[in-house]
Amino acid sequence: MASTCVVGLQWGDEAKGKIVDLLTADHHVVVRYNGGANAGHTVVRDGKTYKLSLLPTGILSPHMQAVIGNGVVVNPVRFLEEVGTLRAAGIAVGAHNLVVSDHAHVIFPYHVEEEIRGAGAAIGTTGRGIGPCYADKVARSTGIRVGELLHPDRLRERLRQVVPRKNLILHALSASAKIFDADALCDEYLGHAQAMRPFIKDTMRLLHQALRDNKRLLFEAAQGSLLDVDHGTYPFVTSSNSSTAGVWSGSGVPARHLTRVVGVIKAYTTRVGQGPFPTELNDGPDGLGEKIRKTGREYGTVTGRPRRCGWFDAVAVRYTAALGGVDELAVMLLDVLGDLDELRICPAYELDGERVTDFPADAYLLERCQPVYESLSGWKVDVGDARKPGDLPGAARKYVDRLIELIGLPVTIISVGPDREQTILCS
Ligand code: GDP
Ligand code: IMO
Ligand code: MG
Repeated sequence: MASTCVVGLQWGDEAKGKIVDLLTADHHVVVRYNGGANAGHTVVRDGKTYKLSLLPTGILSPHMQAVIGNGVVVNPVRFLEEVGTLRAAGIAVGAHNLVVSDHAHVIFPYHVEEEIRGAGAAIGTTGRGIGPCYADKVARSTGIRVGELLHPDRLRERLRQVVPRKNLILHALSASAKIFDADALCDEYLGHAQAMRPFIKDTMRLLHQALRDNKRLLFEAAQGSLLDVDHGTYPFVTSSNSSTAGVWSGSGVPARHLTRVVGVIKAYTTRVGQGPFPTELNDGPDGLGEKIRKTGREYGTVTGRPRRCGWFDAVAVRYTAALGGVDELAVMLLDVLGDLDELRICPAYELDGERVTDFPADAYLLERCQPVYESLSGWKVDVGDARKPGDLPGAARKYVDRLIELIGLPVTIISVGPDREQTILCS
């Protein structure tokens, strides 16, 4: 049976949430396979705005079964908060339509403290404890899984082993760091565990059963492929496989079940946090970077930080599209470029006097790359009401055609505004 993955091909915030929301109509099960509450996905339907972070965006569609896979890191407090917020907004959320893998890892408050006191600032992380939690998962001796929350004696024993070690590290990082009490933390988390109990399941078995029942799965990536811990601009990345590489390990569903991979791209580029960004428009408060930021409302959903903005980078997207096995592209936020006289696209870089078209994913090489630009004319028209390719002005169509040419993949969706309706399906 056909399964789909929606994956971001830049540094996140490509508007994956909007595409997932659109594609739920053809699917039965939606699966988050990586990241945690560092993600922020905004969906606008019927004039109402919904913000999701840890829960799969697909849960907004009542017919969907939502799954938080084993590859996700789960903060129980945020999980319960988000369930509450969605319920308050009139979305039915319960054990009937949302399950969490017993093998997902738990984010504890000491993870957040470790991040704030440790390497978080140098990378510009979201401060959600993501990196330290994944580090504990890989370390094994300090990782605690969601399933362990349901075994009080086991949880207490584990926290009594882990918390003193964490306190030592925290104290060494900063004399003013918070210190934790294992038993108090255990009591608190046993309370959260009771509230989470109905949601906790063996999701790998559940997904395999769904496949046997001919259900269509929709995998929803968090972050963008350039933030993938193995293939992104390391070390300025997140701590999970945010490209399609994470599907298999993060859900237990073999990647060969994917029959459609939709790569989501903004018509330009943004990045939040530190790290190289060759096409960044660092041109001051009156410059084009600020203009795009204002028009596109480019401020992080999770942290409110201004997103760094720049021209479309075809070198980077060719790389991530190949990495992800992408079949088709969704070009988002085309409307944001509607007021510019001239547009630029970067088809290559220059590095040490040589023209480079293969993306160097290592941050120390990428930061030395200079963008080579080609120029296209702007369309100077508001395209927010366009509903078919023919409604777009010639210059906008030319711009999209050039992206198709440079990346070598078809564009099947063009988005011209945040609302579900503001979408062009290209056949
Ligand atoms: P995600 O993390 O990839 O799901 O993306 P975000 O939700 O963080 O960021 C995308 C933002 O752009 C959200 O605020 C969306 O509501 C908004 N958006 C989505 N598509 C469009 C579009 O075509 N035009 C405009 N102007 N905004 C859009
Ligand atoms: P969505 O799903 C954009 C960035 C952070 C930081 C780096 C590491 O909304 O596209 P982390 O907290 O993950 O350890 O931070 O990754 N980052 C994102 N940037 N969109 C996201 O998610 C992001 N999630 C993490 O800004 O640079
Ligand atoms: Mg986002």
